[in-house]
Amino acid sequence: MEPKVAVIGATGAVGDVFLRVAAERKFPMSELRLLATARSAGKQLTYAGRKIAVEETTEAAVAGADLVFCSATSEASRRWGPVVRAARHVMIDDGSAYRMEPNVPLVIPEVNGDDLDWHEGIVSIPNCTTTPLAMALHAMRRVAPLRRVVAATYQAVSGTGAAAVEELRSQLRAFGAGAEIPAPGVYPHQIALNVIPHVDSFEEDGFTKEEAKMRNETRKILHEPELRFAATCVRVPTMVGHAEAVHVEFEREAPLDALREALRAQPGLELMDDPARNLYPTPLNTADDDRAFVGRLRVDPSVDHGVVFWCVSDNLRKGAATNAIQIAEELIRRGKL
Ligand SMILES: NC(=O)c1ccc[n+]([C@@H]2O[C@H](COP(=O)([O-])OP(=O)(O)OC[C@H]3O[C@@H](n4cnc5c(N)ncnc54)[C@H](OP(=O)(O)O)[C@@H]3O)[C@@H](O)[C@H]2O)c1
Repeated sequence: MEPKVAVIGATGAVGDVFLRVAAERKFPMSELRLLATARSAGKQLTYAGRKIAVEETTEAAVAGADLVFCSATSEASRRWGPVVRAARHVMIDDGSAYRMEPNVPLVIPEVNGDDLDWHEGIVSIPNCTTTPLAMALHAMRRVAPLRRVVAATYQAVSGTGAAAVEELRSQLRAFGAGAEIPAPGVYPHQIALNVIPHVDSFEEDGFTKEEAKMRNETRKILHEPELRFAATCVRVPTMVGHAEAVHVEFEREAPLDALREALRAQPGLELMDDPARNLYPTPLNTADDDRAFVGRLRVDPSVDHGVVFWCVSDNLRKGAATNAIQIAEELIRRGKL
């Protein structure tokens, strides 16, 4: 029996891509309800060529679905998670609300799909910067154990949602027309022609919540709670695709050839690394692709057993919608829905 599905946040940046990815993958469902706030009720969205009217998110709609995909806000996740659990159905949550809760698996199916076996009704997907990094680290630790990870990110505005995409568009339009650039609303500074070393809010230790999420989530997914980790998360004026420059130290020698082989063998990950042909992943040449990409792999001569690499993935696909659908597919495969 195919599941009845509800999507909370269907009108958002992730929701939009979710509908495309679900149609591409022909995700099995006997019913699809598209939910958002009252503001969007009645709006028509298209799924697999079929128009579906958006409804306000209600208890009846949420409790009536076997499988709920939530890509909305933390408040919405916290409001509807208990309803799904009480109905003994499953919610796959894109937000950060439940990611670090001990009874909630945080899953990238190609890395820790086995964690789905102990879910209690809610499964979280990782932050969109964590996903490609954890996939690359998981592949590489087959060669030698990880000792320390340092990452800097270059994150697209769609990671903040549909309003941020519109903010960059309107600033670029004004710049192109030689007009005054509109004041920022979503970000604390103008994002067009700028980079902002500030993603999510600051914590007491000087890191941002995004940087803490990357550290904590990577540790949880890899089951390495002591992994030494530091990140700087930066918002850049690209539309889609989060990139990262990553320095890794291993416990022992990790030859580049063996690392390349491990990266090539990692499902869901593509090695795109041919500097002689200017070939390495960028947000544009990897957009709309479900894989994570790694390139620019080289020895870091500043430490023992260190390498540096660059990774990129489409934050709305593998960073969000695709990973959520792959989790659902894996739950079905394991009989865990
Ligand atoms: N963007 C990414 O790359 C990315 C990646 C991984 C995870 N995520 C997570 O995915 C979630 C959605 O992100 P987004 O980028 O798609 O945001 P977005 O473009 O701002 O869209 C938010 C969506 O949530 C709906 N919504 C807001 N409050 C709601 C409520 N109380 N009840 C029901 N629906 C509500 C909105 O409906 P209305 O249109 O009616 O306002 C809209 O459909 C966030 O938790 C985010 O952290 C995003």
